[in-house]
Amino acid sequence: MTHRLPWRSLGIAAIFGLGITAGAAGADDREAIELTEEDRTHCLERMRTYLEVTNEILRATLESDMDAVRSHALAAVPRRYREDDLADAEVPARGTAADGRGQGEGRGGGAGEGGSGRPDRMEAATPEAYQGMMHHQHEAFQEIARDAREVADPAHTQHQLTEVQDTCVACHSAYRFE
Ligand code: HEC
Repeated sequence: MTHRLPWRSLGIAAIFGLGITAGAAGADDREAIELTEEDRTHCLERMRTYLEVTNEILRATLESDMDAVRSHALAAVPRRYREDDLADAEVPARGTAADGRGQGEGRGGGAGEGGSGRPDRMEAATPEAYQGMMHHQHEAFQEIARDAREVADPAHTQHQLTEVQDTCVACHSAYRFE
């Protein structure tokens, strides 16, 4: 499928230093990321939340409900990854129940992390390009949340949403969990 990657996603892939090549038909040439069963389950749950959130953002733009755009976008960013201006925003991240104590952790993301140790394990298990794309995605969702207030234009949000989804596409083309 990699040969069908849109050029925009290839651009994202290039930014993060991914060498995506067209594989033989039927071959899965994505790089495997090895996770524990528990972390894999958690990550896939997060992924399903991302899909849900992007759909909710799109729906909110069609209804010109910019408050909903903002809260759905923030729901995709765990508190420890939020920048200062959004750290105390009203919306808790969704899908974090598994490391849930995470909700109470300090905003610096320093001590604690709910005691699950997952952030450290993920950092050890994933390549730098993977982490870069995740970071990029967290920033992009925060930009959507900010602009929902400051720009308040549904078409602008939709444009931003396609850019977030370029990152989804680029990462999915490069990696799989094992
Ligand atoms: C940094 C990498 C990365 C990013 C960014 C990313 N994903 Fe994923 N996602 C993965 C990997 C790896 C898998 C597992 C694929 C596999 O093992 O075949 C996955 C799986 C999924 C799944 C399948 C979940 C399941 O239960 O099987 C969905 C849905 C998904 N992602 C949605 C998204 C959406 C929507 C976005 C963007 C808003 C996104 N992902 C961004 C890496 C990423």
